[in-house]
Amino acid sequence: MIRTDRIVIVGAGLGALYAALELAPRPVLMISPEALGDGASSAWAQGGVAAAMAASDSPESHAADTVKAGAGTVDAEVAAMVTRVARDHILDLTSLGTPFDRDPEGGYVMSREAAHSAARVVRVQGDQAGRQIMETLIAALRDTPSVQVIEGALATRLESEGDRVTGVWITSAHAPSGEVLIEAPAVLLAGGGSGGLYAHTTNPPRIRGQVIGMAARAGALMADPEFVQFHPTGFDIGEDPAPLATEALRGEGATLINKAGERFMLNVHPDAELAPRDIVARAIFAETQAGNRPMLDTRAALGAQVLTLFPSVAETCARAGIDPVADPIPVAVAAHYHMGGVAADQAGRTSLQGLWVCGEASSTGLHGANRLASNGLLEALVYARNAAGDIAGTLPLTEAAPVTIRFPDGGSIPDPDAVALLRQTMTTHVGVRRTANGLKSALATIARLEADHADDPSFLNMTATATLIAAAALTREESRGGHWRDDFPEPNPDLAHRSLIHLPDALAIRTAAAKDAPQCSMLNCPT
Ligand code: SIN
Repeated sequence: MIRTDRIVIVGAGLGALYAALELAPRPVLMISPEALGDGASSAWAQGGVAAAMAASDSPESHAADTVKAGAGTVDAEVAAMVTRVARDHILDLTSLGTPFDRDPEGGYVMSREAAHSAARVVRVQGDQAGRQIMETLIAALRDTPSVQVIEGALATRLESEGDRVTGVWITSAHAPSGEVLIEAPAVLLAGGGSGGLYAHTTNPPRIRGQVIGMAARAGALMADPEFVQFHPTGFDIGEDPAPLATEALRGEGATLINKAGERFMLNVHPDAELAPRDIVARAIFAETQAGNRPMLDTRAALGAQVLTLFPSVAETCARAGIDPVADPIPVAVAAHYHMGGVAADQAGRTSLQGLWVCGEASSTGLHGANRLASNGLLEALVYARNAAGDIAGTLPLTEAAPVTIRFPDGGSIPDPDAVALLRQTMTTHVGVRRTANGLKSALATIARLEADHADDPSFLNMTATATLIAAAALTREESRGGHWRDDFPEPNPDLAHRSLIHLPDALAIRTAAAKDAPQCSMLNCPT
């Protein structure tokens, strides 16, 4: 056991880095599973940060689009607060050195993305926003002596006394080892979402709901776990994770076609390719299921410019042997963002004393049932600052010596076969289209996997989050935003509110569901 006066930040993505900088000169200990900058979803974000920077735009308009996209469950006060401060964060990132794209007059270049009523996404070198913002923050962090980063360590569980979190257990991220307890005055969870719990995902391999599951297992209140966003255009090139073909391509006029060359979104929604993300995702999924091979066609809209304006997309195309100037890009839906997570108030406080959360691990009420594109990085920035301010307000300013960690022998790493089965189960039965039978069968499988691997805390974090998603999805007998039920295809106005749930309630739903779960294969399930 190690006792420190450092504030522990679990994670190393955008929210974690920004919060560590905001907390300076308060001493911070960051727990990063990979080398700093690797393995965080933020670094893979292509679109950018949504913010009303144009004179013709306003925070009110941005908030209204956020509320509309969220399909009836966005907290309007949260949307107003986040969109109001968005501009300040962009200006602060600019002063830290983020090289946002500028027009000849020096204004920010804005991308258009789905369900935004204006071009409102500030970007960096086309599709490099996540990577470039992270590089800027990492450079600033290297000049911030109050921050100590432990690389190659993974948080496995929280330590509590009553409803107060007193520390976090960590283990080696790369080899089996025992755990070390770090006791700390405050813990900020900033370790990402759950996309990697699905077999088809755009998230980095490490992002598998562990942080959310860890908080749930410690007793924290969860919100909206059933709302998972599937991105319509993951590259369908057999890679795990699936590289992203950013929505900004459709904002530039790229279209979606099938193998017959038909522009199928024209028959689905008046906004066609720029319809809300859940609608486009379900249309793509239907084309894939029907064997129609959906593709993203950038040829007429961008021509050879796709290679220079979208370097990440060009790099993936080159790796997969696709020439986007001559041929459309095969795409499929992929789990992309978890709207649900650890319930947080506007200061990033969780229901547990001593525990804060920001970024995708949190559920703040901003995204509702369907996150508006590029609001994810924005929310991470806003709540990182809010949480840092709140933590700073509760703790005296102290100094703390650097921490030295030596992991004891022992431990294990999650069984790859169990993880693969869990991920396939989530994609098949808790994915884009859900049914009661599929969800019950998934809950039965999750329970069995959990029982078989009860001594592996990291795997238990994954199954806790998977349980929360599937149990809340089973309970929500309607379709809303990213949550679609084939057996309840309409929204129910009585259910236009957020879900709040503790893990024991989800486990009780799981136990009941497993009792009458039908036999489902990965290919079919009785309806
Ligand atoms: C994208 O670039 O399409 C993703 C942006 C986002 O998920 O917010």
